[in-house]
Amino acid sequence: MRKALVAGNWKMNGRAEANSELVTQVLAGLDAQVDSDSVDVMVFPPSIFIHQVKGLAGDKIGVGAQNLCEFGDGAFTGELSSGMLVDAGCNAVLIGHSERRSMFGDTDERVAAKVKAALAADLTPVLCLGESLEQRDSGDALEVVAEQFRIATEGLGEEQMARLVIAYEPVWAIGTGRTATPEQAQEVHAHLRSELAKVEAELAAKVRILYGGSCNAKNAAELFAQADIDGGLIGGASLKANDFVAICQAAGAR
Ligand code: PGA
Repeated sequence: MRKALVAGNWKMNGRAEANSELVTQVLAGLDAQVDSDSVDVMVFPPSIFIHQVKGLAGDKIGVGAQNLCEFGDGAFTGELSSGMLVDAGCNAVLIGHSERRSMFGDTDERVAAKVKAALAADLTPVLCLGESLEQRDSGDALEVVAEQFRIATEGLGEEQMARLVIAYEPVWAIGTGRTATPEQAQEVHAHLRSELAKVEAELAAKVRILYGGSCNAKNAAELFAQADIDGGLIGGASLKANDFVAICQAAGAR
């Protein structure tokens, strides 16, 4: 079975003191309640706090970035390169989060370039995909998500694809309190796995597919019980230590 993964996306939240409290509490909760062999845990703080959080988290919690620049070091004011993220201690990076797609110009093509840049630097790309409410209501969710996936991974070899983590995050469920039902999520996860199987059967068995979108301490277990849901990408609930630990526990117990 694929090992569960729970990733906390802090988005643009945090201050040094609050981060320190949150990470300390999460570490204590994980220690007391979660078998580290059963679940990998990661957090994605704002870049300016990566160093701080890395120092606090030690080896227990992986630390990633919420974005990267698709280009190498140079004249790109305000951006961060894959090399800088690695240097700061990251081992993963979120790519194509819907907030970046809708507000910061991350087109499917840019997302593909960012995936390549991450892989080249040995960072795990956490590739975020998801349909809008309109697309879901018109019955296009599966096709939209599969198309985002195909463009983002075009030209990648099997070995590179095997290093991806995928996060299915329906846009209508992010930060809205409206979670996809376990059945809705499972349907898309299974579809994505069938896309992976088209490349290679073993790949489909290996790659972890996370669910994200109003996943919380109450609904996590039900979502993670689905055959193709391997954990979660958690926004709001990752800022509350008890809730985040409970979600990690649910993932580990699945
Ligand atoms: P949410 O966010 O859990 O607050 O809905 C998830 C995400 O955007 O990654």
